[in-house]
Amino acid sequence: MKIISSPLELKNYLKNYNCSIGFVPTMGALHEGHISLIKKAKEQNEVVVVSIFLNPTQFLKGEDLDKYPKKDEADKKICELSGVDILFFPQVSDMYGVDEVTLLAPKVRGYVLEGSSRPSHFNGVLTVVMKLLNIVNPTRAYFGKKDAQQLNLIFLMVKQLFMDVEIVPVDTVREKDALALSSRNVFLTEHQREEALKIPSSLRSATAMVTKGVLGYEEITSNMREILSPLEIFYVEILDREFNRLSKVEIGNTIILVEVKVGNTRLLDNIWL
Ligand code: PAF
Repeated sequence: MKIISSPLELKNYLKNYNCSIGFVPTMGALHEGHISLIKKAKEQNEVVVVSIFLNPTQFLKGEDLDKYPKKDEADKKICELSGVDILFFPQVSDMYGVDEVTLLAPKVRGYVLEGSSRPSHFNGVLTVVMKLLNIVNPTRAYFGKKDAQQLNLIFLMVKQLFMDVEIVPVDTVREKDALALSSRNVFLTEHQREEALKIPSSLRSATAMVTKGVLGYEEITSNMREILSPLEIFYVEILDREFNRLSKVEIGNTIILVEVKVGNTRLLDNIWL
């Protein structure tokens, strides 16, 4: 596995490859969820590039940037064992200068849900993803469905800026007890982890209601809120795949999303129905 930290060196190096390139952007602290993105990229492309870059611009002041788990050596090993061809491992100074051009998230979709309590978060995400895609110029780029709003905004950016890359959504990977994998799960105490199981439990219950034919927004979201109580709820939402609120679940076109705070940790999850 080749490790490169300079954006321009990587850009030049990739010019040697006249083949399909799969790209998996990450912030490190890799887990099975990231490994599933890498596996998918390997299945569909001849060369796989992974980036590990803890992007400071998507964290707001007072958020957990300093505490975000860093596992550089373990991450490199995981990439190597997963068959990654090239690891892009830049420093902040490689990626950002002083007077920066910045992308702005769309005024509606970028400021609802996670964006409503973390304004400017998605400006940082879109700007860094744009930079990474311009550096790697991949055939396909892989993102987890767990971050459904991020995924939706990246689809929108690629479409609206006429970018030449296929965005591939990948299913959420879960622990045996159904908690969605997240680099932030390491912050949970044993008790908080138990509490966090209310998240998959609320989504399971929503699915069961839909299976029984209960499709209404109010019925489903109030049932989920009851299950999640007394956790601090940022949102429970039922949206279509374009991120418009639905008054009724439409099978094949619905995402039910939830974000809560457990202790000091924000956890999000969703199901696609
Ligand atoms: O999902 C993430 O890990 C990050 O938001 C991403 C896409 C790597 C951008 O920093």
